[in-house]
Amino acid sequence: MTDSESSRAARGTADVVVLGAGPAGLVLGNLLLAGGVDCVVLERATSEQVKSRSRAGFLAANTVRILDRHGLAEGLHRRGRTHSTCEFRTEDGRFRLDYATLGRREPHTVHPQHELVTDLLTHYLDAGGRLHFATEAVAVHGADGDRPSVTVRGADGRTGTWQGRYVAGCDGRHGAARRSLPAGSVRHHRLDHGVSWLALLAEAPPSLDAVGYAVHERGFAGHMARTPEVTRYYLQCERGTPPGAWSEDRIWDELALRMRASDYGPLRRGPLLHRAVVDLESDVLEPLRHGSLLLAGDAASLISPSAAKGANLAVLEAELLARALIDDLRHGSPDALADYSARCLEHIWRAQEFSRWMVGLLHRVPGPAGDEAAFHDSLRRSRLASLRTSCSCQDWFAENYVGV
Ligand code: APR
Repeated sequence: MTDSESSRAARGTADVVVLGAGPAGLVLGNLLLAGGVDCVVLERATSEQVKSRSRAGFLAANTVRILDRHGLAEGLHRRGRTHSTCEFRTEDGRFRLDYATLGRREPHTVHPQHELVTDLLTHYLDAGGRLHFATEAVAVHGADGDRPSVTVRGADGRTGTWQGRYVAGCDGRHGAARRSLPAGSVRHHRLDHGVSWLALLAEAPPSLDAVGYAVHERGFAGHMARTPEVTRYYLQCERGTPPGAWSEDRIWDELALRMRASDYGPLRRGPLLHRAVVDLESDVLEPLRHGSLLLAGDAASLISPSAAKGANLAVLEAELLARALIDDLRHGSPDALADYSARCLEHIWRAQEFSRWMVGLLHRVPGPAGDEAAFHDSLRRSRLASLRTSCSCQDWFAENYVGV
């Protein structure tokens, strides 16, 4: 980064200062720009890091509608693939659900998140959007007034300040926006699901033409296609397992065992491109507005990956926030901004409820075996049996599985 770039990054003003260039921050930036609102996006990571970070990839139909509505879906229509089948492999057998024929009859679109983020970034910069990479927001000040400011630190350690009318915290769970909320100003709901997953990205073609959910006495295993060459796998593991603890052979053998490959066909193996351990946790902040500071995406709520809702909630919240900020700043109408938190929380809690239901469906209750555990296990098997046999349960599942 040149000197002039870093001095430009260190200070400035904008009507809306957006923290974070993930799905939430970039959808918000694009919509504000298109709505004639002066904004700037400040991102801690470099452009390369943002464009290469492999995370989610299952886009809900509503997310595609939002991106279409704002002319941001060209990339996902060109490279994304619709997906509408999930397969459950359990101790009571295997069954498939074609969820595009159930509920609201909607499919997912598989489009790796780093490709979506790259599309959004290109669109924003091509439209003349202001964005500073390698610029870390340190803290938000004066959010209880109408001239909040953000102190930032550049890659060269130089500090500075951005000032705005509003600050949009789209900088994730560990970002400056959350850190800057005065103690006691928000209710912080938390839930630890007590389950951890080894999250894997394999350079191997998908082994089945469906999202695969395997429930096994040794723990959960999951299979999600990302591209024709790359597949996402999840493997339930002990809390605190170091990501590197398992050899690749052991991982593939365990996946094959839990996915019952001996019954349903071999898994297509390949080198592991990425691995991490994810503790399944959820949290929700309430309210999502503190004066001139507004939260969206993971900064607003964290959701377990069990139902692929995180990125979809981030896009939905970014659209609600953009509309509310445009109403306020361009048309002098503050109502939507006043409703923003409540409207988001409605979607967030619905997604949290379904995500929790999925955790209960796919995992044995962690903890010591015993009567209670056995009781829960029978409930879980009955839930699976309802999903396999009951049309209304299948419709409910499909509506919540794809919906946000
Ligand atoms: N200053 C500036 N940028 C920051 C800071 C900071 N202090 N802290 C974090 N960031 C940046 C990160 O580098 C990241 O690019 O904020 C961005 C947050 O993006 P995401 O983590 O992708 O969060 P969000 O846009 O809310 O999308 C959330 O997407 O990745 C999926 O499933 C995941 O639920 C998640 C969803």
